[in-house]
Formats: sequence, C-alpha cells, structure tokens
Amino acid sequence: MSYAEMYARARDDAEGFWMDAAEAIDWVEKPSKALFDDNAPLYEWFRDGTLNTCWNAVDRHVEAGHGDRVAIIYDSPVTDTKSKITYAELQSRVAALAGGLKAKGVGKGDRVIIYMPMVPQAVEAMLACARLGAIHSVVFGGFAANELAVRIDDAQPKAIIAGSCGIEPGRIVKYKPLLDGAIELASHKPEFCVILQRDQERAEMIEGRDFDWYGFQEGTDPADCVPVEGTHPVYILYTSGTTGAPKGVVRATAGHLVALYWTMEKIYDCKPGDVFWAASDVGWVVGHSYICYAPLFHGNTTLVFEGKPVGTPDAGTFWRVMSEYNVRAFFTAPTAIRAVKREDPKGELIKNYDLSGLRAVFLAGERADPDTIHWAHDHLGVPVIDHWWQTETGFAIAANPLGVEEIPVKIGSPSVPMPGYDVQILSDEGHPVPTGELGAIAIKLPLPPGTLPTLWNAEERFRKSYLNTFPGYYETGDAGMIDEDGYLYIMARTDDVINVAGHRLSTGAMEEVLAAHPDVAECAVIGATDDLKGQMPVGFLCLNAGTSRDEGELVGEVVKLVREKIGPVAAFRTAVIVDRLPKTRSGKILRGTMVKIADGEDYKMPATIDDPAILDEIGVALKRIGYAGG
Ligand code: COA
Ligand code: AMP
Repeated sequence: MSYAEMYARARDDAEGFWMDAAEAIDWVEKPSKALFDDNAPLYEWFRDGTLNTCWNAVDRHVEAGHGDRVAIIYDSPVTDTKSKITYAELQSRVAALAGGLKAKGVGKGDRVIIYMPMVPQAVEAMLACARLGAIHSVVFGGFAANELAVRIDDAQPKAIIAGSCGIEPGRIVKYKPLLDGAIELASHKPEFCVILQRDQERAEMIEGRDFDWYGFQEGTDPADCVPVEGTHPVYILYTSGTTGAPKGVVRATAGHLVALYWTMEKIYDCKPGDVFWAASDVGWVVGHSYICYAPLFHGNTTLVFEGKPVGTPDAGTFWRVMSEYNVRAFFTAPTAIRAVKREDPKGELIKNYDLSGLRAVFLAGERADPDTIHWAHDHLGVPVIDHWWQTETGFAIAANPLGVEEIPVKIGSPSVPMPGYDVQILSDEGHPVPTGELGAIAIKLPLPPGTLPTLWNAEERFRKSYLNTFPGYYETGDAGMIDEDGYLYIMARTDDVINVAGHRLSTGAMEEVLAAHPDVAECAVIGATDDLKGQMPVGFLCLNAGTSRDEGELVGEVVKLVREKIGPVAAFRTAVIVDRLPKTRSGKILRGTMVKIADGEDYKMPATIDDPAILDEIGVALKRIGYAGG
C-alpha cells in the first residue's frame, strides 16, 4: 500500500482503519467500534474495550516466548554503567514494584508523580503505575521545586516516586531537597514517597513518609495487570501553555496503545526485536512515547541513555552507543545534532564506529534547520527524517512514513500528514487559505486515536485552548503552510510558547517570575534565535518609578529567580533594563516585533504601535547584550 492509499483509507474508512490497527493489541474485551462521537467535539476512541497498558508493553511478550529478549538497555556515561534488562526480568521487576505500591493502597485511578533521572527504574515506575491502572505524571528533572509543587497540586497524587539525584555534567542534582521543598509548597500532600537511592547521592528520608525503593517492596506480592476501559487515562503529562499554569495533557489507554504500536512499523520502519533509541528524557512526550511505551508495545529493545550529546565524554557518544547496540532507528532533537556538529564539524568521530545497522535518523521537538539535516545526512548516509508533533498528540502529526513508503524528502518540511490527521491552514477568520499561503495550522476533528481527549480536570481550558478558536478544528498553536504537493511547513508558534534546546517553555511563566521581583514594574520575555538551542529567552525589565539599579546586578537577581522558580531547564540567562515596552494602542506588547529586532531582521512598523521611537530604544538595549547585530 502506498502512503497516499493508506492516508485515503484512514480518511474514508476511519473505523475500518483503526479497528484493523487495534488487532495488534491484546484486549481483555475487544471494543465494539473505534470512534465514539456522542459527546462531540469531545471524541473518544475504543471506549468500550478493556485492556492494560503494562500487559501490552511487557507481559504479552513474555507469554509469546520472548522473555529472553532485551527490553531495556541502560547506558550511562555519567555513571560509567551499562546494563541490560530482558522482558522476563522487566516483568518481575515491574510486578514487584506494582506490588509494593498496591500494598500501600495505590489502585486504579490514583495519581502517582514520578520525578526521576534517566535510569531504567523511571520506565519501570511508569509501567508499574500502568499495571495497576494508576495514572502517572512524570515531571522532568530540570524543573525546580515550585514547578513540581504546581503539578502536585493539580494532579493530587497519592504517591510520589523519585530518584535521590540526577547527574548533569559537572554536578549532581539533588532531587530529594527539591521534592521536599515541593511537598512543603504544595497544598496537597502525597500519602507517601518512594525513593530510589543512588550511589552518587544518598537522600535523607523522612520517617513514615519516605520509603526505600527496594525495602518497601519486601514481603509484598507481585501485582497482576488491572484491566481498564479504553478511555481510562494512562498518564497526565504537563506541558507549557500561554500562562504560567501548565496544561495537564491526558492520554487515554486504548488510543495510545493502538496509535503508538502502529507508528513503530509504519513510521519508524522497525521490526520487533530491533533496537530503538530516542535520545530524549522520560520527562518529555518523546520520552513517554519513544523511550518507554511504543518500543515496548512493539516488542523492541529501547535504550535508556543517561548522558548528553557532547561532553559525556565527547561528541562521539551518539555514534558509540549506536554501534555498540546496533541501533536501527535513532530519534533526537535537532539541537542535539547541532551540539555534536559544533564540536566535530567534519564528523571525524563518526568514522570510528560501525553504523551499518542504522536505518534512519528522526528529528522532532523544534524546527529542523536545513544545515543540520544536510550535515547528519552527509555524515551518516541514512535518511534524516524531520517529523512534527506535540505533547498533545503523542505521536507524529506529519512525517515521512518510512515503513510504508519513503516519500521524497523536501528539506525544511516534516513531510506529509499521518493517517487520521486532516491538517488545514486557516486564516484568522477560520477559512482555509490558498495553497502555499501562511496561516494557523489546524486539524479537522476528530483527531486520531492516541491524541489528547482533554486536559486533566480542566475541560473548559481544553475547549478554550484548542477547540473554540476554529469550531470543528483542533488549534495546534503552530503557524505554517502546505505546498502544492501536500507537504507541511512549520514556521512559528502563534502563542507565547518558545522552544529552547527542544524543550517547550512558556514565556508567560517566565514573565510571571520576573514581574514578582520587587523592583520590576513591567516586563516581557521573548525567544530570540540561537544557533545552538534554536531559541533562547531574553527578558526586558521596566523598573518601578524612582528605582535605579545596576543592570548587571539586577539581571543576576532575576536570572537566579527564574532558576529557582522554574528551573535550570528554562536556560534564562539574559535580560536588559528598558524604560518602556513597545505596545499596541490597546496595550498588547509587540513581542513578535521585538523578536525580529533581536534577530536583526527587517520588520514592518506595526500600524497600531503607540510610539514607534520605542522600537529604536529596544534595538539599542538589545545591542548592548549582543543581539540585534550588536
Ligand atoms: N535535571 C536537572 N537539570 C537539567 C536537566 C535535568 N534532567 N536537564 C538539563 N538540565 C540543566 C542543565 O544542566 C543546564 O544547567 P546549567 O544552566 O547549570 O548549565 C540547564 O538545565 C539547561 O539545559 P540545556 O538547555 O539542556 O542546555 P545544556 O547546555 O546543558 O545542553 C544540549 C545543551 C543541546 C546538549 C542539550 O539541550 C540536549 O541534549 N538537548 C537535546 C534535547 C532533547 O532531548 N529534547 C527532548 C525533545 S526530543
Ligand atoms: P512539545 O509539545 O514539547 O513536543 O513541543 C511541540 C512544539 O514543538 C510544536 O507545537 C512545534 O512548535 C515544535 N515542533 C515540534 N516538532 C517540530 C518540527 N519537526 N518542526 C517544527 N517545529 C516542531
């Protein structure tokens, strides 16, 4: 079947297409149909089926005789550790962990927050929750206590599972004090915490609340998989929106299983048993879908890599890992390739390794710039596939479906829509724009299985954020165009979300932190273009009347504040003091124009600006810190 035939079938016979795909999954009770639209525009998939995520990820492979197959490879240059876990071992480890949780009262529907570094136990914790029908919410280790607290209050977890520390090059990140701080800040208190003590940092335990990972499992029975209905949430994953309050993206069990399983063969061209490596973090959607779930659903070997593209120990690490484990499909963010390219521009280190098993490289998380794609393609000699997706969708909206047909690559485009995604470009008024013209990217409802059915405890916000702007469509928050061959181009966000080193961040959240500084009357944060990280946040600070501050000192204070309140991942390092901010007459800050000035690009004078002279002032301020051609 060609890509075009496959796409057309999913469009014209969605029931048949997705019910066929559902055959690949083990059900306790099969669903009577795929789509339930009685509550449109809220849609549900496979509602009346029952099944279990962990069974499909682990147990069924053991039952099928593949217990000896490696499920997880752990490679950690930062701790100098390598190990392998077979499917049979994974089954007993996950069942034991789930048994410990169950003995402490965790059951179907309870939330469990997971705050862990890139160790196999992070994946085991996710699977143990899924085994019990408990809903996990993984929080990225680079977030500070305050961000963790916000998620604790929203998800209201019964338990928190955490590692004692994470390891960043050159420093140990002590998770436990962050966890304790977050629990203190949060109004909701978990009943208990499970702590994985790592050799690099032993955490101090709070008697009666904290339990040791291994100790608390002792004397408990391994837990069986609990069947749940198809729409039961398997996880909540918080992501950045326009305001400081993160959005809790909900993933429904059945659609997630069906869609992710489908992608492993059709997009990533993998057969069960192949080694799949997503060099991301379990704290992000890429980590959920392609470190933990999809490879395991499909019976592949997944790689948990605790290291960085460079510096652990060098820019050859990616190639070393690929050759050592015969990786077939490699997935990372363009920024990681840029980091490698910067250290080893000629790709000399690649020559030290046998990469003959590599089928393709997949890029997502941010715009893949042509230089990066060319460099990877020229040096690796395999297809380099840009694909576009979001936390909300859980898998690619647009991609090149290598396992179906490799369609011609157009550099700069993540290729074509995947089955079930009717992608359209709309004008501000919600009308489709002509081919090749820019507009808001929207997807005609319903979205395919695996995509978010709602936001956790926030249905109104779900409607407002995604459904209300263009009735009948899902609003992606991205702007772009579709060319005459149906290829998509993703150009920019339509909201205040920025993308720093493949990490999705809210400038609104940073502005909330800056505004809380006692000397700051007003502020703005923009994402300026950065050669390595794609974008970097830049802050503008207007001081309270009569306040005079040394710029360097004040900037140091706000940088520290953002690190404390949001976390190091925000990579907020730069700010300037300005007298005033450019605004429209109705008071809207002209962030888009400020980005253009920072990037040294031409810009059109906004017709509605209240005083054009402010733009010159912004340019002068930006030059002072090395932007705007300064
Ligand atoms: N726990 C604690 N801190 C973390 C962290 C974690 N899991 N991940 C990152 N941080 C910290 C970093 O140590 C750094 O701290 P610093 O300010 O003290 O230096 C800060 O957060 C910013 O990190 P990052 O933006 O990642 O920059 P970097 O300079 O450490 O590394 C890259 C740059 C490009 C090598 C790195 O960003 C990378 O590998 N990116 C790949 C992106 C990716 O996997 N995206 C997921 C979507 S596919
Ligand atoms: P996240 O939810 O963290 O995966 O971030 C999703 C956002 O990252 C998208 O809405 C885009 O803005 C951006 N993004 C992801 N993949 C791509 C891509 N291949 N090309 C351009 N932008 C991308």
